[in-house]
Amino acid sequence: MKTVNSAAELRAARESMASPFGLVPTMGFLHEGHLSLVRRARQECSSVGVSIFVNPAQFGPTEDLDTYPTNLDQDLELLSGEGADLVWTPTTTEMYGRRYQTWVEVEDLTRYLEGEIREGHFRGVTTVVAKLFNSFQPDRAYFGQKDAQQAAVILRMTHDLNFPIEIIVCPTVREADGLALSSRNASLAAQERQAATVLYRALTAATERFNSGEREAKRLKAEMEAVLADEPLARTEYASVADPETLEESHGSIEQALLSMAVVIGKTRLIDNITVGD
Ligand code: PAJ
Repeated sequence: MKTVNSAAELRAARESMASPFGLVPTMGFLHEGHLSLVRRARQECSSVGVSIFVNPAQFGPTEDLDTYPTNLDQDLELLSGEGADLVWTPTTTEMYGRRYQTWVEVEDLTRYLEGEIREGHFRGVTTVVAKLFNSFQPDRAYFGQKDAQQAAVILRMTHDLNFPIEIIVCPTVREADGLALSSRNASLAAQERQAATVLYRALTAATERFNSGEREAKRLKAEMEAVLADEPLARTEYASVADPETLEESHGSIEQALLSMAVVIGKTRLIDNITVGD
């Protein structure tokens, strides 16, 4: 496995790698969710690249950029164990340089859900992912369903900007009790960790209602809100029943939906989602 820091080193290393080349973009502090993407890329591609970059552009001024967890040595060991070929760990200066002023923005899809609360977040994500696509020139790129809106936004950007890259969205990896793996779970205290199962419990409760025939968006949403409200350590930012394609909030009777939520537990903000219907 080759680890590089500069964009020039990356380009040189990438040139000698066999196609198809698969890319897994990450912010590091890797867990089984990230590794599931690397494994999938390993199965489907001749070479696998991973980026580790905590992207300041996607964090708001009051968000957790400064406390975002890192452990580069462990990340590199894990990636080497998974058979990754190339890892890029750029600095912020390498990525954005001085006087940076070019941004990639997806419009409608970023108006809802996370985009409504985290202003500028997706502009940071799409900009860095576009730069990663240009730098690595992958044939395929792997993202997690855990960040459903992010995956939808990146699919849109890839199509709209004619990147010749196949986007593969992989299932959410969960702990045995349903909590979706996230780098942010590490900052939960023991009691908070227990409370954090409420996201999956709320999603499961609404999914069960859907599976027993409930189709009214507002009742599915109320079901999630009720489960979330029952957990004293959890503060709900939003619980949503949305159109899986447009991400607009659903009203009336639905045939399929993206159920999603953002919940704050202590100082930790967690998101999760599940799709119901075809
Ligand atoms: P990060 O949060 O490190 O996640 C990197 C990738 O791992 C994303 O595609 C995310 O959806 C996926 N992932 C995280 N937890 C997962 C889980 N439990 N199961 C399956 N996949 C999971 O997402 C980002 O970084 C950044 O926004 C990035 C795309 C790298 C741009 O900076």
